[in-house]
Amino acid sequence: SPAVSGCQPMPDQIDSLFPAHVAELQRRAAAALEAGEFAALVVYSGRPRYAFQDDRPYPFAVNPHFKHWLPITDAPDCFVAYAPGHRPRLCFHQPADYWHRPPVLPEGDWQREFDISIVREPGAARELLSTDLRSTAFVGEWQPEFEPWGFGAVNPATVLAHLHFQRAVKTPYELECMRRASAIAARGHVAARDAFLAGASEFEVHLAYCAASGQRENDLPYGNIIAFDAGAAVLHYQHLEHRRDVPRRSFLIDAGAQFRGYASDITRTWSAGDPEFAALVAGMDALQRALAGGIRAGRDYRDVHLDAHRAIGGLLSDAGIVRCDAEAAVAAGVTSVFFPHGIGHLLGLQVHDVAGLAASATGGEIPRPPGHPFLRLTRVLEPGFVVTVEPGLYFIDLLLEAARADGRGRHIHWDAVERLKPFGGIRIEDDVVCTTDAPENLTRDAFAALSPS
Ligand code: GLY
Ligand code: MN
Ligand code: MN
Repeated sequence: SPAVSGCQPMPDQIDSLFPAHVAELQRRAAAALEAGEFAALVVYSGRPRYAFQDDRPYPFAVNPHFKHWLPITDAPDCFVAYAPGHRPRLCFHQPADYWHRPPVLPEGDWQREFDISIVREPGAARELLSTDLRSTAFVGEWQPEFEPWGFGAVNPATVLAHLHFQRAVKTPYELECMRRASAIAARGHVAARDAFLAGASEFEVHLAYCAASGQRENDLPYGNIIAFDAGAAVLHYQHLEHRRDVPRRSFLIDAGAQFRGYASDITRTWSAGDPEFAALVAGMDALQRALAGGIRAGRDYRDVHLDAHRAIGGLLSDAGIVRCDAEAAVAAGVTSVFFPHGIGHLLGLQVHDVAGLAASATGGEIPRPPGHPFLRLTRVLEPGFVVTVEPGLYFIDLLLEAARADGRGRHIHWDAVERLKPFGGIRIEDDVVCTTDAPENLTRDAFAALSPS
């Protein structure tokens, strides 16, 4: 596989960032525990769930709090225990099992930061934890068998509010994980575009993406969105068409990757040749770059969202899709017909990461701008936040019909809509690191490293 970028640390260098990451998590945990008046934290990795009356488990999704502490994403029934002033401890569950390959403790320097014990059955972890857990906060998916262990609280709100709020600021180790998650996804995106242009079906494009990024479905941070033509108007299109002999006018792909539990979330849209749609994609690309370039510490992300509406209003107006200028299109609510989702969200251990609306570490919510119910991030940006910037423009029958019915339709050039509807829509999405200066665009950097110009 192609080498990934000259400017990234080698694997040993990412390991060198890990001790400071764990030290920061210890500081954050100490503050969270103090706020909740707890003495210690136990974070449970989780357990697979099973399909109804079946012995098939759903894919295991590890507790994000657990994979925050260490690079383990595939091991159920493990615990991280931390009490301020002591080294964190890992109880690693490795059952004696000849039906499955038991989880393997990943090699690496990260192990030096933990006292590690291996247990053969989940209950054995109890012996390794403090005898008295009355002042310990448990964080994770609760299991009835833990009842007699005597935890002081299960997922206490004060502790979670702290941990979630602080999680928006990434450590240098986390940023490096996210650079790599973008690099992996970029390889998949290039292969997917080539497969589309070579005549592959949606399903085959999906396989090409997985092969080139080295991910099976369970490894993906979210289900790939791979849509040709009108499918691109379905925001979370989940179907994968097997037929190749479809019109193939346009191609929207929203697909990411994970590295050590950290996600990338990337969208690109391609025109198969129609110049009007290609010009619209180019216009979206230009406005997306400008919005991403404007990510800065101190900016209210709600303003980024409202700026996106004005920019998309300008594009709609210039393209002759609406009859009014940008300001009028925003004021009349017409941009929301074409751009009905938020401009982006926090990204990290979860694709839609927690605490996007949180007002502080102790609670409260920052409201969304009126009329924008789907915005997932309303905070003022800080250095170390990683956000997506994902403007879109779609021809969605449901929303177009509503606009026609409520009077907004008079601002719309219906001829243009009819002409462009078969292309579905456009979304362009990058992952961007906020700093006090120019932002770092993880996505554009990853694509540039694959094809240096
Ligand atoms: N892939 C989901 C999103 O962009 O938010
Ligand atoms: Mn996104
Ligand atoms: Mn996405």
